Amino acid sequence: MPTEHLDRLFRDFESYRVSHAPSGTPESLYAPMDYILSLGGKRLRPILTLAACEAFGGDSQRALAPALGIEVFHNFSLVHDDIMDQAPLRRASETVHMKWDINTAILSGDALLVEAYRLIAQVDAEVLPDVLDRFTQTARRLCEGQQLDMEFEQRSKVEEAQYLEMIEGKTSVLIGCALAVGARIGGADNDSANAMYDFGRKLGLAFQIMDDHLDCFGDPGKTGKQEGGDILAGKHTLLAIHCRHQDAQAFEEMSKRTGREKVQGMKQLYVQTATDSYALGKSEALLTESIADLRKALDEGPQRQALEELAKSLVHRSF
Ligand code: IPE
Ligand code: IPE
Ligand code: MG
Ligand code: MG
Ligand code: MG
Repeated sequence: MPTEHLDRLFRDFESYRVSHAPSGTPESLYAPMDYILSLGGKRLRPILTLAACEAFGGDSQRALAPALGIEVFHNFSLVHDDIMDQAPLRRASETVHMKWDINTAILSGDALLVEAYRLIAQVDAEVLPDVLDRFTQTARRLCEGQQLDMEFEQRSKVEEAQYLEMIEGKTSVLIGCALAVGARIGGADNDSANAMYDFGRKLGLAFQIMDDHLDCFGDPGKTGKQEGGDILAGKHTLLAIHCRHQDAQAFEEMSKRTGREKVQGMKQLYVQTATDSYALGKSEALLTESIADLRKALDEGPQRQALEELAKSLVHRSF
């Protein structure tokens, strides 16, 4: 059964993570690293790595260290993202820079990045150059995406194609990389790993559009993030871009408001202009495309079925 299969991978990953928790002195550097990793999260990326490894006939135990490396890298990006987005909440708890301070969050984020490389470098020697190359390219593209995300905040207009390019960098490439690295460790050749990457790239786009949707319309009790954080930060999400095209004047007026009034008003405007259903439709279409890519990358069977169900559950999620 696919779900049991994924549950097993989740449990394997969590026990490996707990037994490899960051620790050392000064405690003030390692405690925030352990804090963010212990707050939970969906563990989507490491599960994709382990599942892709098994889908190509590999032993997922050999993918545990790089899978943790990818999750640690993701957590590094979250700690720094929360500083950049001035986010108070992450995974229903205080963000690292709020609980400690900005300098501690910068440095423990840096240490998470270093730890991520240490773990990823533990792959078998024959795949090490390819895995490191894929990971490094991904890390670079994630930074490019994050920089564009911040630059866009200063612009008055961003178009959908530019938004898609930005989220490909900040979100999709790491999801693609998690799959490609798992596939390589499992014995896939370069082309098969690239096919898995394509699946992840499209899935990542659908995933980020849903992240934007949840930021606005999700239940903060479930997302564990501040409601309307993107609206307050003036982010050019797909919702904002589409809404501006539907009714530029109303959108500009609403953008001038502040605080709760702005969040509630913008949510209403998104509904009135059918922007919320536009975003959901776009995310669904990308999910369908991603599943078509998955079907090209893998033969039919329980492993593919598990990945397909995981992809659907990630886009149809409430947190
Ligand atoms: C949040 O990622 C950042 C994005 C790229 C959207 P997740 O939604 O995977 O966060 P966790 O790890 O489950 O908390
Ligand atoms: C985050 O995008 C992407 C990365 C962390 C690289 P968001 O800023 O939308 O993520 P959340 O909503 O804070 O999790
Ligand atoms: Mg953020
Ligand atoms: Mg951000
Ligand atoms: Mg978000």
